[in-house]
Amino acid sequence: MPDRARNPQLNANGELTHLLSIDGLPPDVITHILNTASSFLEVSDREVKKVPLLRGKSVFNVFFENSTRTRTTFEIAAKRLSADVINLDVARSSTAKGETLLDTVDNLVAMHADMFVVRHAASGAPYLIAEHLRRVGRDDVHVVNAGDGRHAHPTQGLLDMYTIRHYKKDFTHLKVAVVGDILHSRVARSDIHALTTLGTGEVRVVGPKTLLPALVEKMGVSVHHDLREGIEGCDVIIMLRLQNERMNGALLPSASEYFRSYGLTPETLSAAKPDAIVMHPGPMNRGVEIDSEVADGPQAVILPQVTFGIAVRMAVMSILAGN
Ligand code: CP
Repeated sequence: MPDRARNPQLNANGELTHLLSIDGLPPDVITHILNTASSFLEVSDREVKKVPLLRGKSVFNVFFENSTRTRTTFEIAAKRLSADVINLDVARSSTAKGETLLDTVDNLVAMHADMFVVRHAASGAPYLIAEHLRRVGRDDVHVVNAGDGRHAHPTQGLLDMYTIRHYKKDFTHLKVAVVGDILHSRVARSDIHALTTLGTGEVRVVGPKTLLPALVEKMGVSVHHDLREGIEGCDVIIMLRLQNERMNGALLPSASEYFRSYGLTPETLSAAKPDAIVMHPGPMNRGVEIDSEVADGPQAVILPQVTFGIAVRMAVMSILAGN
């Protein structure tokens, strides 16, 4: 059982005050978020797609890295909860003139921010903000990690769990393979923590040695270097993008060589169970980690992942705000 008193995202009562990482989140908290997301899925089908749970609250999207899915679905989710949403234009903000991250945060708090959704290239940046808010006595302002460096992407992990639960119901009998650039992937870390916390039957990582972290098996996964062998008999395959922007030097001969060994094609996919689902957090690089025939094929649930992401982000923000 995780020590809630030592986990900076939980308060003394074990309630979520920030969402910084899936590592250390108790299974009942993850399940509560997924169950809450289920109740929000229906809101998106209404003619008036709004509930008043965050009315009067201000959510600041602070993205220091590019994003299509995460930033947009957080904005949609906050608006569906009736919050006021402010997208900080980081490139035009005073951070470009040398203002520190925490000075920027203090100024946004002075504008009555209630919640920060933060993406940053530096691992730990959302923790730094949460710790700063605690020090200045503003525990009522919440922080959601929208991806920090190669460390964590907890809402992606949660929406991936939501997707798996939607299609496969129970985790305990599942074989799940996470394939590709595990070393640089915050999504892989969040998915592995979530899958193991939820008691998944078997979690495998598949990739070349140069793209797997040392001692990755200590995370409770088995390690495979051959794609067919790694996905054999799997129920779920999570494909990852090569994170070229986080690689120092050449870890691979070429993208086409990578595709020959690790690209998911209809032929290699046939090694998994016939009803296996194929997931990808996006952005996808077609012809590098995944063939278009698979990405657009009947087993792909890549676009439903995006749709579920709205409900999951609504759930996270609503729970943080105390609903
Ligand atoms: N999955 C994900 O984080 O995508 P974006 O970078 O587009 O937000």
